[in-house]
Amino acid sequence: METQITEIAPNIYRLSTYVADADFMFNQFLVVDDEPLLFQTGLRMLFPLVSDAVGRLIPIEQLRWITFGHVEADECGSMNLWLAASPNAQVAHGALGCRTSVNDLADRPPRALQDREVMTLGTKRMRRIETPHVPHGWDAGLFYEESTSTLLCGDLFTAVGDSPALTEHEITGPALAAEDVFRATCLTPSTGATMRSLADLQPQTLGLMHGPAYAGDCVQALHDLAGAFDERLATEGARLHGPISPVD
Ligand SMILES: [Fe+2]
Ligand SMILES: [Fe+2]
Repeated sequence: METQITEIAPNIYRLSTYVADADFMFNQFLVVDDEPLLFQTGLRMLFPLVSDAVGRLIPIEQLRWITFGHVEADECGSMNLWLAASPNAQVAHGALGCRTSVNDLADRPPRALQDREVMTLGTKRMRRIETPHVPHGWDAGLFYEESTSTLLCGDLFTAVGDSPALTEHEITGPALAAEDVFRATCLTPSTGATMRSLADLQPQTLGLMHGPAYAGDCVQALHDLAGAFDERLATEGARLHGPISPVD
């Protein structure tokens, strides 16, 4: 196994490890600036590979921020290994997730972020956007880097298999095929609406945790994904309880 590095936007690097046994890839993102930030730590078992990749880009002890979308092993499993390796690093997570989990899990106290709070790293501006239960996790949220219009969208658009580092080929079909296998997304009346609110950011690039980085029509892709989940909610609702409507 190896971790490949691709710059998907200026000074935003995708670190990607394909695990052949699982036919699944795990990506992290390093934002290089005055205060370097890692989004998604990777699994503990991948720490040697991912930390080696970060070390090819910056001295690892310069890492300042450790972030992730929600509490789950592939999102934050190696959090404390990073804290040990980078003495100036601090975890930053949504305030709710800090209260429910990270205050207890992290070896050093985390920074609690409010919804839509911006972390200024230097020239990069990372906005934390809370997306509770989208795609899953009470504490779920994402980061939008404003200077490059890059949405680090975590588990959204999760696909199976190996992927190119960067693509303009459509990503919604592979994501729905994977959803049919994993059933990883919470189907709630606000699922589609939350995805559409991310489209309102007008992202130019999407950084997927399990799949390629996408540089096609990101707004359309998010609307397509939202529409597909609205349909699934309506179908499941009708099957279980009678007609049910997503919120606008
Ligand atoms: Fe997840
Ligand atoms: Fe994930």
